[in-house]
Amino acid sequence: MNAPERLSLRDPYVRISVGVTVGMLLLTALVAFIVLPYAQREMEAASLWDVICRAAGLPFVGKPDTAQAPTVPTSQVVLTAATLAKPSPDSIGRGATLAQRCAMCHGPTGVSRADFPNLAGQYRAVIYKQLRDFRSGARVNAVMSPFAANLSEQDMVDLSAYYASLPRLPAYHPQQQQQPTRIVIYGAPTRGIAPCGACHGSLDNKPGSPWLEGQSAVYLKVQLEAFVSGHRRNDINAQMRNIARAMTPQEIDEAANYYASQPVETINAAE
Ligand code: HEC
Ligand code: HEC
Repeated sequence: MNAPERLSLRDPYVRISVGVTVGMLLLTALVAFIVLPYAQREMEAASLWDVICRAAGLPFVGKPDTAQAPTVPTSQVVLTAATLAKPSPDSIGRGATLAQRCAMCHGPTGVSRADFPNLAGQYRAVIYKQLRDFRSGARVNAVMSPFAANLSEQDMVDLSAYYASLPRLPAYHPQQQQQPTRIVIYGAPTRGIAPCGACHGSLDNKPGSPWLEGQSAVYLKVQLEAFVSGHRRNDINAQMRNIARAMTPQEIDEAANYYASQPVETINAAE
């Protein structure tokens, strides 16, 4: 038996099988590294080398994907320890003076008589971030934006310190009057909605999440609908947009009414 002889390249069978194997390897490489990557939409305009690098798992060094670049300003606000540090009485005092021009809408005590958001007792970081976002255009409202346009950094710090120092409207949810709303207390796990109360109070507060208790139902609903439509898009990582978009219109109504609930005396006192 001279078996090793049979593996010689002189043997036509060996030549054919080696040829077929190499051919298939080349074909697979062509499909995997060039044909399939080019089939991906974002790689259409990339160079051959970029396409090969990307398929091989190497960092893609081509042009940044302009199709996904934001065309509208997004929130640039970063909450730092300085933003959250305890405010000085001076800062609160300056804020009180500046707040005179906000009172016609947000109320002389930071509690609005109309459907403007209450600012009394709102977290400082929240007020500061919203003012920054109105000023930069990351959040837009025809009525509010002009009032933020000319605020300096210090103005925004002082206004936040002042409003945060005022007494906020309490959470008011008497059991007999109102069943806890499912979405607020339990969320909707199957749709990826964490309980509102886990960030907005009731259960827990996550820094950066606004105090919602006592806000008008109209305002709350408008904000949730604005997150759904994307008209409001200053929430970091689209956190609230994703939540609002997973909610049913009925849940939006329920959540708005839940947070707007206040004792009759408070409503009368504001009028
Ligand atoms: C002419 C009425 C008006 C005046 C004056 C006004 N605001 Fe507003 N403000 C609004 C409206 C309306 C909104 C809600 C905007 C929206 O729906 O997105 C708002 C929203 C805000 C918010 C966001 C609240 C939240 O919970 O997200 C802050 C903070 C705020 N205003 C601060 C101020 C400050 C500080 C001033 C004074 C420098 C001021 N506003 C003056 C009408 C006004
Ligand atoms: C994971 C935390 C988280 C959960 C859960 C959450 N929110 Fe929010 N929500 C936020 C943050 C953070 C903001 C502030 C967004 C920004 O930066 O403007 C916000 C903003 C809002 C606002 C705008 C308030 C204002 O005054 O500007 C409303 C209304 C709101 N959330 C309602 C809800 C409701 C209703 C639910 C439950 C279905 C919910 N949120 C669940 C974190 C959360």
